[in-house]
Amino acid sequence: MKKKLVILSGAGISAESGIKTFRDAGGLWEGHNVMDVASPEGWNKNMALVLDFYNKRRQQLFEVEPNKAHTITAELETDFDVTIVTQNVDDLHERAGSTKVVHLHGELLKARSVLNDHGVIEWRRDINPGDLHPDGYQLRPHIVWFGEAVPAIEDAIGIVEEADCLIIIGTSMQVYPAAGLIDFAKSTTPIYYIDPNPASIPNLRNPLEVFQLSASAGMEIIKAKLKEIEF
Ligand code: APR
Repeated sequence: MKKKLVILSGAGISAESGIKTFRDAGGLWEGHNVMDVASPEGWNKNMALVLDFYNKRRQQLFEVEPNKAHTITAELETDFDVTIVTQNVDDLHERAGSTKVVHLHGELLKARSVLNDHGVIEWRRDINPGDLHPDGYQLRPHIVWFGEAVPAIEDAIGIVEEADCLIIIGTSMQVYPAAGLIDFAKSTTPIYYIDPNPASIPNLRNPLEVFQLSASAGMEIIKAKLKEIEF
């Protein structure tokens, strides 16, 4: 049976594709205060601004391509049972060929109703004020904003509990519950963490190896390493 590799990815894996990370720009995200564009309060204050912000992020997806880190991650499926738990809302893992991807914070290419988080629909165009879900309510991006529940977290916990090896790529480990997922790994599960500016991970029982590198350089090394190690 193939060993279970679990990849926890954050914004850093998509940086080399040209998508900006959240916290590398001094608290601003594409020039906006994060809470203005990624919170229910921001939505209630200025829906048009929030829609425009995500419309631009969605449009950008059609201009970028998966990078080598995404591709290597997808190729690992040949030898391993790979599941990706990503904080990213882009579709670059899927476009690189990964088949099992859990999006903790939603997906740019999906939309839902402001009424509730059921009835998620595929959506590749802009969302404008007045665009309605089939249920009759305003459409909103299928994105988990600050202060909102993370429905996929239970699935993600189960996935991490089963992991034989965890690879963390390009996340500042600041946003919970995502950052707390590693606590659910078996204490013997090796953890590799790739980030040019890695966060410190306190109180970790697991064997940890940090690669202070870009996602693609780090994944090249880990790919070779996975061929050699026994776990
Ligand atoms: N390769 C790998 N990592 C990189 C690269 C790169 N080329 N460039 C930057 N990084 C790292 C940064 O050093 C940082 O640690 O990526 C990380 C990005 O951190 P954040 O911007 O905080 O992104 P992330 O951890 O994914 O944010 C979590 O916050 O705003 C919310 O919901 C949003 O999902 C997001 C969540």
